[in-house]
Amino acid sequence: MDNLKVMYEEEELQKRIKEVAEQIDKDYEGTDEIVIISVLKGAIFFTVDLVKKMKTPITLEVMQVSSYTGTESTGNIIVKKDLDNSIEGKNVLIVEDIIDSGRTLKYLKEYLQTKNPKSVKIAVLMDKKERRIVDIDVDYTGFVIPNKFIVGYGFDYDEKGRNIPYVGYLE
Ligand code: IMP
Ligand code: MG
Repeated sequence: MDNLKVMYEEEELQKRIKEVAEQIDKDYEGTDEIVIISVLKGAIFFTVDLVKKMKTPITLEVMQVSSYTGTESTGNIIVKKDLDNSIEGKNVLIVEDIIDSGRTLKYLKEYLQTKNPKSVKIAVLMDKKERRIVDIDVDYTGFVIPNKFIVGYGFDYDEKGRNIPYVGYLE
């Protein structure tokens, strides 16, 4: 991809993800299971690296909730792929690649809360804090980033560039 500048190298990503994993393990100490809900497609990369660094036992669910075309959020949120198993009474951790307006995660958290889990927390790799439109608490954040469009390590530009191993930004 042309015009892609490095924002975070692979090593920086892994170092920070390790710290986040350690924080999660600390907070959930003694918990027998966390249900990780990875939000397709972008969060796959972060989810894999995060859970491999965690010691707390997990089960894994994947959901797909939003469509995002080009660089603009549509604001239309639908559940494209739902949970396979009940989360009733479970400790749930949503793992998402990025929070931007916050609409996706706000919708998803409220949706999951209707399924009566014991708890629902959110982990994101990237937070475009200045872009927030709706009010939503994030429990674990990898990096707070400026308002630039990022590509690589799961982040796509019209579905392209997800497998670039570092996080770059378009100029
Ligand atoms: P939100 O609902 O506005 O918070 O949007 C979150 C979604 O927007 C993420 O799941 C991404 O799919 C997408 N997104 C936001 N910023 C970027 C970016 O810089 N690169 C790639 N996808 C992005
Ligand atoms: Mg996404």
